[in-house]
Amino acid sequence: MMTIERATIADLPDVLALLNDAAAWLRSRGLDQWPHGFSAARIGPMIARGEVWLAREGGRAVGTVTISGEADPDFWTSAESRELAVYVSKLAVSRADVGVGLGALLLRWAVDYAARLGCDWARLDAWRTNAQLHVYYRRQGWEQVRIVSLPHRRSGALFQRPALPDLEAREAFTFAGALALPERPETFALVNGCHGYSGGAALLPRRPGQPVRKPLSPPARVIPSPGVPAGDPAGIRAIGQAVIADVTAARTCPP
Ligand SMILES: CC(C)(COP(=O)(O)OP(=O)(O)OC[C@H]1O[C@@H](n2cnc3c(N)ncnc32)[C@H](O)[C@@H]1OP(=O)(O)O)[C@@H](O)C(=O)NCCC(=O)NCCS
Repeated sequence: MMTIERATIADLPDVLALLNDAAAWLRSRGLDQWPHGFSAARIGPMIARGEVWLAREGGRAVGTVTISGEADPDFWTSAESRELAVYVSKLAVSRADVGVGLGALLLRWAVDYAARLGCDWARLDAWRTNAQLHVYYRRQGWEQVRIVSLPHRRSGALFQRPALPDLEAREAFTFAGALALPERPETFALVNGCHGYSGGAALLPRRPGQPVRKPLSPPARVIPSPGVPAGDPAGIRAIGQAVIADVTAARTCPP
């Protein structure tokens, strides 16, 4: 079973390993992308801001992607920055898992996530001189917007895609137990059968990093789901989607 979750600081070693293995692979191919690799000092704050996502298969870290609501002012115009968009970066797949399209699936998941947030666009800036990477993004259906060349930046090949729902990509990654609601990082949903909760889906306030457990205080909102047996995976998924639909009814982009 493949899961995707917002990385916590406990996941930092796994995220760094994925990124730095990818950087080493790029160097081994003579590509000048990501020459210095990634440090805890750089990635830790992104994790703390809730921007880093980690995919696992059977517990093993297989891929990562970072999604931010902040447009890089070096690259995107102020008019573009005012549009509802997320910005995707630091996509990497474990070297043991390349060649099967996992990275492409993570990209699709990121676009679907943007749609769930109510955004109009998913955007990214790619390493400016890596033409093979530009071909890769075009093959994945991303439109090349322009190339921005700034002396102090080595990225700048800009791509975007309309943020449209992609249920297949969403379904490819199941959530483990509780459904983190990316729209509101401080909120998560407990659904039937998880952590002893039953009776529907409950939206609960939660601080980042706080463990998921049965609420002691009444939930902020309950979405009843009569007839769904506790622990039933299909039912849980259905409730989760109802929660997503309910929460995303209000456009909250950028996160
Ligand atoms: C980009 C990435 C996530 C794509 O994963 P994927 O969709 O599962 O696809 P694959 O890893 O099988 O790669 C597809 C093709 O793109 C090529 N490719 C991938 N990243 C590349 C890069 N940065 N530069 C040049 N070529 C690259 C692969 O060599 C492969 O080429 P091939 O079809 O000739 O064998 C993954 O290849 C990766 O981790 N790359 C290194 C990190 C990176 O460049 N991330 C994107 C920048 S934000």
